Amino acid sequence: MKFIDLEPQRERIRQLLDERIAAVLDHGRFIQGPEVYELERVLSEYSGSAYSLACSSGTDALLMSLMAFGVKPGDAVFIPSFTFVATAEVVCQLGATPVFVDIDPDTCAMCPDALERCIQALGSRAASELPAGGLSARGIIAVDLFGQPADYQRLNGLAEKYNLFLLADAAQSFGATQSAVAHGKGVCRVGKLAPITTTSFFPSKPLGCYGDGGAVFVQDERLYEILKSIREHGQGSERYRYERVGINGRLDSLQAAVLLAKLTIFDDELRLRNEVAERYHGMLSGMISIPRAADGSSSSWAQYCVRSSKRSDIIRVFKEAGIPHAVYYEVPLHLQTVYREKGLIIEDLRNSEQVAREILALPFYPYIPEGAQEEVANAIRVALGH
Ligand SMILES: Cc1ncc(COP(=O)(O)O)c(C=O)c1O
Repeated sequence: MKFIDLEPQRERIRQLLDERIAAVLDHGRFIQGPEVYELERVLSEYSGSAYSLACSSGTDALLMSLMAFGVKPGDAVFIPSFTFVATAEVVCQLGATPVFVDIDPDTCAMCPDALERCIQALGSRAASELPAGGLSARGIIAVDLFGQPADYQRLNGLAEKYNLFLLADAAQSFGATQSAVAHGKGVCRVGKLAPITTTSFFPSKPLGCYGDGGAVFVQDERLYEILKSIREHGQGSERYRYERVGINGRLDSLQAAVLLAKLTIFDDELRLRNEVAERYHGMLSGMISIPRAADGSSSSWAQYCVRSSKRSDIIRVFKEAGIPHAVYYEVPLHLQTVYREKGLIIEDLRNSEQVAREILALPFYPYIPEGAQEEVANAIRVALGH
């Protein structure tokens, strides 16, 4: 059994992949070739975002977005502690301070109530309680963990109320949706739920390429122009004339070609992911805490993570039965030495710690055989003595 198997997908679109890759080899424009621009058009159409910018990874998408906002030392950026390290790493790379916010245990995303408490507490903190030079609140990075969008209705409201930028780290949720009724937008796809959204095309993501890749979705033209410049070493409208400090943040044409091929079956794969999730729900509900998309949201099911206080028993049975599994994430960032030192903890992060102790990702991909899912469910039943 495999945890994630990319082979059935590859075989399904093999011919298209071969044709797309051959076209790049033939035209030879490996950097910023026509596939990159085609991909950006398709991504904008798909997500409904005004502008899409393909880039080198989900991490660089985050970094470039913070650079575009001019994040700098002395800035506080609110992030969930229970996330992949990249969310915090980019804040620290720019010398700013991540302020850790607790999560909602049901969605594993940043809890808006905890966020508002942290924003208010930071504002009323005496300078002596803050890192030297003080801290001013600049922005929020929300994370859509395991494929489910965070509560953008409330997070957008808090960002406006406190005049902060809101960046959606949607590395895991491209393809998911949420109703954004309060903003008069109806049901929106990830990419349009926040003013700026980043995603990752790491191979195992719901939409993955065959290497590193990512994208930024942005609604504001000025920010888009800044991001384009940052992606190209800070270049202005003239070649080799630089207006700002940037990075090499480009996506290869070959990776864009792969993504264009995969996008032809992406909706069908999302449907299959939902079917696989429904099957797990049916096999596991009543036995263990299962993930559910919140009301008004759909998940892209990047991972299917259950929760149990008997996780070690389940892992023991999985190991005996040869069932692959993973723990995302065993140690929340505020408990990692480097980020405990660099970040700020305003209130306890008990949900992050509790979920980190209980979470367990099961084998999951659109083409997983039902028999493999039954094996997984049986092993859990044995471990829990049901
Ligand atoms: C929440 C989150 N943010 C950022 C990233 C970084 O993406 P990449 O690996 O493409 O740099 C990931 C990757 O797993 C992620 O899960």
